[in-house]
Amino acid sequence: MKPIQVGLLGIGTVGSGTFNVLKRNQQEIQGRAGRGIEITMVADLDVARAQSVVGPDVKVVNDARAVIANPDIDIVIELIGGYGIAKALVLEAIAAGKHVVTANKALLAVHGTEIFAAASAKGVMVAFEAAVAGGIPIIKALREGLTANRIQWIAGIINGTTNFILSEMRDKGLDFDVVLKEAQRLGYAEADPTFDIEGVDAAHKVTLMSAIAFGIPVQFDKAYVEGITKLGAADIKYAEQLGYRIKLLGITKRTAAGIELRVHPTLVPAKRLIANVEGAMNAVMAHGDAVGTTLYYGKGAGSEPTASAVIADLVDITRLHTADAAQRVPHLAFQPDAISNTPVVAMSEVVTSYYLRLRVADEAGVLAKVTGLLAEAGISIDAVLQREADEISGEAATQTDVIILTHDCAEAKMNAALAQMQALPTVLQPITRIRKEELA
Ligand code: HSE
Repeated sequence: MKPIQVGLLGIGTVGSGTFNVLKRNQQEIQGRAGRGIEITMVADLDVARAQSVVGPDVKVVNDARAVIANPDIDIVIELIGGYGIAKALVLEAIAAGKHVVTANKALLAVHGTEIFAAASAKGVMVAFEAAVAGGIPIIKALREGLTANRIQWIAGIINGTTNFILSEMRDKGLDFDVVLKEAQRLGYAEADPTFDIEGVDAAHKVTLMSAIAFGIPVQFDKAYVEGITKLGAADIKYAEQLGYRIKLLGITKRTAAGIELRVHPTLVPAKRLIANVEGAMNAVMAHGDAVGTTLYYGKGAGSEPTASAVIADLVDITRLHTADAAQRVPHLAFQPDAISNTPVVAMSEVVTSYYLRLRVADEAGVLAKVTGLLAEAGISIDAVLQREADEISGEAATQTDVIILTHDCAEAKMNAALAQMQALPTVLQPITRIRKEELA
């Protein structure tokens, strides 16, 4: 049988990796897919550079629409990124009857409903393993491997840039700004790192996992998103002293009120495997009622790790493209008529536990006032730590840090208690609040 023909839109880091791995492992990939898979056409604005990557046998053009219009192309890989031209091209490829493979989490998290509906109507597949956690086959695991389960929750380190920064802050005791500059110098962080450090990239990814796990539409606009820019070295140190590490987690949970969907810095018990995922690595925990807790670990970005996921999708499509569309794995794991309207709950309704750090005047009765307000709000304290003034670098001995760990309470209740504590004249700086998850 003649090889399936693939057109590649954008040949940067991931595109080059995809081309190289497909070529290097072509025999094994063909053995698994049942026929050859070949990239025969590439579109890139830098035609000369693209041609130097793929060699003279592959047609390179600067117009992505020429790839989509080519009747010989069966599958289009979109590696352009963003919501702009990438969206138009993906929809055009679908309309032209091409299957699509994309690593574009932003596009699918925001416009997934429209794109999957268009693909279903046209009877083509849109595959996106590379969009979440790079080389970790988490989409496959959630959509197929755990298909027997009623999934209860997912929690993941799904942004390598921020995990690298947090690891460096902890190891070296440095503040966020210093480590960010170092990460940019080393190429771990983009020149504009906003999507990573503000949690947006992780929120795109957890939005996709949430839809697959719980059978709800992709709803990025409902996600609570908080990044790591306000974290200080002191909080990382105090968390450590209490037996926790701080990680930027994407969390989605099934609760009686609906689905929680949130990204924020999170205290995680230091003894959990996921707390020990360091540097730019990714890891995802998924808890199903039958299987219990599972953990997936690996590289969340990079040329060949991401290519590994792109090619897995190419093989899936190659195996299934002649199958009746109704027999294929649904885009979001559930059949379109089984997608539910279970609501995503507002952050104020989320129930979790908290780490609070208050810089207070070191005077009689201050701690009693603070804990009294928590008691009045019905918020139960789990642990309290007070650091002596000499541990506060450069501060006068008249101030101290009080760190409080609470048991679970609703976010709205915590917000109200925080406002009252903040209003106390003896609370000298904005209170730091970091959510905590036991992940038991
Ligand atoms: N920028 C992402 C990260 C990789 O740092 O993990 C692509 O999603």
